[in-house]
Amino acid sequence: MKRRDFVSLVSAAMGTSVLWSCRKDMMNTEATSDLDLLAAKGGGGGAVTRYPLKFPSSIPSSGGVLESKLSTSNLGGELYSDVWAYNGEFPGPTISAKQGDTVSLQLKNSLNEETITHWHGMIVDHNNDGHPMHAFAPGTATKNYNFIINQRAALNWYHPHPHMLTGKQVYLGQAGAFIIYDNEDNGEGGLNLPFGAYEKPLILRDATLDRDNNLSYKPAAGGMFGKIPLVNGTRSPYLNVERAVYRFRILNGSNSRIFGLALSNNAAMRLIGNDGGLLPSSLDMNRIDMANGERTDVLIDFRSYPNNTRIMLRDLRAGWDLLEFRINSESVSGDLPVTNSSFTALTNPVNTRVFSFDAMSKINGLEYDMDRIDWTVPFGVTEKWIFKTNGNAPHPVHVHGASFQVVSRTGGRNQLFPWEAGWKDTVLLEDSETVEVLIRFDNPANLMPGMRNIYLMHCHKLEHEDMGMMANFEVV
Ligand code: C2O
Ligand code: CU
Repeated sequence: MKRRDFVSLVSAAMGTSVLWSCRKDMMNTEATSDLDLLAAKGGGGGAVTRYPLKFPSSIPSSGGVLESKLSTSNLGGELYSDVWAYNGEFPGPTISAKQGDTVSLQLKNSLNEETITHWHGMIVDHNNDGHPMHAFAPGTATKNYNFIINQRAALNWYHPHPHMLTGKQVYLGQAGAFIIYDNEDNGEGGLNLPFGAYEKPLILRDATLDRDNNLSYKPAAGGMFGKIPLVNGTRSPYLNVERAVYRFRILNGSNSRIFGLALSNNAAMRLIGNDGGLLPSSLDMNRIDMANGERTDVLIDFRSYPNNTRIMLRDLRAGWDLLEFRINSESVSGDLPVTNSSFTALTNPVNTRVFSFDAMSKINGLEYDMDRIDWTVPFGVTEKWIFKTNGNAPHPVHVHGASFQVVSRTGGRNQLFPWEAGWKDTVLLEDSETVEVLIRFDNPANLMPGMRNIYLMHCHKLEHEDMGMMANFEVV
């Protein structure tokens, strides 16, 4: 019997706490460091030491190597944590490519357990999707990814997806940005969005550090909630900005935490995009909520502030300071474009499917089984998928292989939010909500000849995913 079969057997028989204790083999100390508590306070007391925001390096989308490996990372102020990181970097290197480009990357596994990398938001065939059945052990084997980018511009991301190990591997540091550009959204030109030094990725997440200041993965039944925020792997970060307009490409890379983003002076952020790229129209927002797995693309206009102004990007849910902007420049530059991206609404669904996210580990009453295909979807046909829950939400529902359009939310918050317009691949389902989406698998990658086109749908609370709130389906 394979270890994973054993673990699921035991956890089915004895409850999920056993699952987690089987996982704690690499965990070290119990105590939370004082640094955690200090840093979490934030709140402008003036006592918080802030560190320069880190930015990941870049690697080409073709010919590069990604190596999952053990490393250490400076979280700010020479505070080093053990991490599991792509190419030893926390967060992983940023990959960017244009629509039409070929991606060819080799994944090496230098961890001490199996892994596989999934490209979240990328529409690729089954063999390139990083399905858990393709997880491979450390050693000499590698996984070669090879696919053509056939989708619109967006901030996507990559992270491990081995069954029952995803939460731990992501938490310990494996995640990076994958930015796609196209003719409309291509840095310079196109829609005239800020680019180069004025376009910045922000990977948000939370973390708990143990007594030795190492990232400590100790999920509770409700998920993994860390005690401090990290932005691009930096604690208490600041960023020097000019009196200019910036584009921030924001990913919520937390295992379980939802953020409610706002600026400390309550200024508007111009929401221009989300998971699936630019929105049909941009909108000024004072607050933007993001579940784990979701992306937000905003413009922030610093032109009108006097030099030496400091503005904090905050999380209103936890009351956290996330990132301090320190404004300073000789001159004022940039503009604040209103973007209207082309968008075609899906209509007239042919099939309707209902998915109930049950307890913490089931979809329609079933825990994940790697060898079971739960439904088949005809290629090229618009379907309505209805997501509901009988409790234990939030469940950020994520689908591989296609983007979808969110058409309604009833119960609970009972509304759609501006950041849910356009194309999405992850949508937040709270308790007593029913969310309807329209989806169509119509990318040639979905019907790759000579293979079974198997994809995943799952809860992106990674602890729910690992406990089994995930399902296989096949496009035919
Ligand atoms: Cu971001 Cu199936 O995952
Ligand atoms: Cu869930």
